[in-house]
Amino acid sequence: MSQNILELPAPKADPQFGHLLEYDRDPIGFWTLCAKEYGEIVPLNFGEMSVCFISNPQLIEKVLHEKNTFIKGEDYQILGDIFGKGLVTSDGDLWKHQRKLIQPLFLQERIANYAKIMVNYTEKMLNNWSDKEEIDVHAEMMRLTLNIAMKAIFDLDLTEADAKTIAEAFDLAMEWYENMREQGFIYDPNNPTEADLRYKKAIDRVDKAIYKIIQTRRKNKQNSGDLLSLLIDMKDENGKKMSDRQVRDEAATMILAGHETTANTLSWTWMLLAQNPQVRAKLQQELKEVLGNKKPTAADYNRLNYTKMVIKESMRLYPAVAELSRQTTREYNLGGYQIPANCTVMMCQWVNHRNPDYFPDPETFNPDRWANDLEKKLPKGVYFPFGDGQRICIGKGFALMEAVLLLATISQKFTLNLLPEHPILPQPSITLRPEKGIKVILNKR
Ligand code: HEM
Repeated sequence: MSQNILELPAPKADPQFGHLLEYDRDPIGFWTLCAKEYGEIVPLNFGEMSVCFISNPQLIEKVLHEKNTFIKGEDYQILGDIFGKGLVTSDGDLWKHQRKLIQPLFLQERIANYAKIMVNYTEKMLNNWSDKEEIDVHAEMMRLTLNIAMKAIFDLDLTEADAKTIAEAFDLAMEWYENMREQGFIYDPNNPTEADLRYKKAIDRVDKAIYKIIQTRRKNKQNSGDLLSLLIDMKDENGKKMSDRQVRDEAATMILAGHETTANTLSWTWMLLAQNPQVRAKLQQELKEVLGNKKPTAADYNRLNYTKMVIKESMRLYPAVAELSRQTTREYNLGGYQIPANCTVMMCQWVNHRNPDYFPDPETFNPDRWANDLEKKLPKGVYFPFGDGQRICIGKGFALMEAVLLLATISQKFTLNLLPEHPILPQPSITLRPEKGIKVILNKR
């Protein structure tokens, strides 16, 4: 027996837009309300789009581990222009094939090679910081993680102009995604709006920059051992290499998926550390004991246990990806609930990561809660900042190494205090970023 989800309780829907307006006004507030007031699975609609929201960890685990029924949701598909058919947006055989090819690039021993790049670029940034200076630390983290991604992927030191092109394109992608969400993800390519055209132009500029890099690399036949060389040289089981278009899509995906998320994680961490000086003091103590005055290396990663717990706890409260979606390709029985075909199933990390059943005093920033292997003991579907199942973040190891090494390197040299009058507003878009940045005052240590 299974229950038709449409018979379950749900918030009142607008006759034309369904629940879209309420969701759009405050996505996290809306998911929190659904979980609290309406139960583990809530049937919804965004106008013509059939949606359901799930918060029960077992249901989430089932969806993320189901291999045959789901594709990426419509909200992802809309990002196809910028990500192309790269790993984040592709599905089915193409995704399976590409994931198998690219996975070896993210083995732990390869990631260790990037540790030096991560620390050296951070030190370069710190050379431009001075005592008592006011900065937007989110802008600095975005620039730093973009530089690191470009060096790791393309073996390139970015020029100011290229960095600006890429950063602007991603900002426009965010703005465009916001517009799309307001319209219920309905997009008519035959009647583009001004915002659509601006977005397309920005993507053209990114494409030009990436194709130029690919062509230069093909011409030089140089193998720098970076991700781009591997993408260009990799052959599938039939000896076939990737097309330029596919290399472009994977590279653009890695740059965009790989820098904004880590930058946001670090930005939220700076905010939380400034708000919790006792945690910051404990972090400093660990850095002193483990590193003394020396720079951190890949080998130190496993010894910086408290630093890792700080990052885990920061991703619990401010997950850089705050919601996930999957779309059913057929009718599906999810733990006794009958979900219709073409229904977008939504899950929200923010909601689950603040569940008091698993995280006592959930609003408190307490890295010590992760001691004694808490993560391993939690049921699946409770804490999933990197997603789970076959589509778990391919860059998880890279991101954790980067977050820990950057946090350690910067904390050794500076203490960051919040500028009191600056508002910090979490903006849930493709990623959860601080809408007006995070302004801090630097204090040299
Ligand atoms: C703190 C940093 C990061 C967070 C929180 C994060 C989060 C996520 C999440 C939640 C997903 C799953 C999306 C879904 O299931 O729909 C994902 C997928 C992905 N991430 Fe990350 N990510 C981070 C860093 C990175 C980095 C550094 C890279 C690359 C260098 C990367 C590349 C990717 C790719 C390619 C996918 C798609 C994987 C697939 O579907 O096979 N991410 N990420």
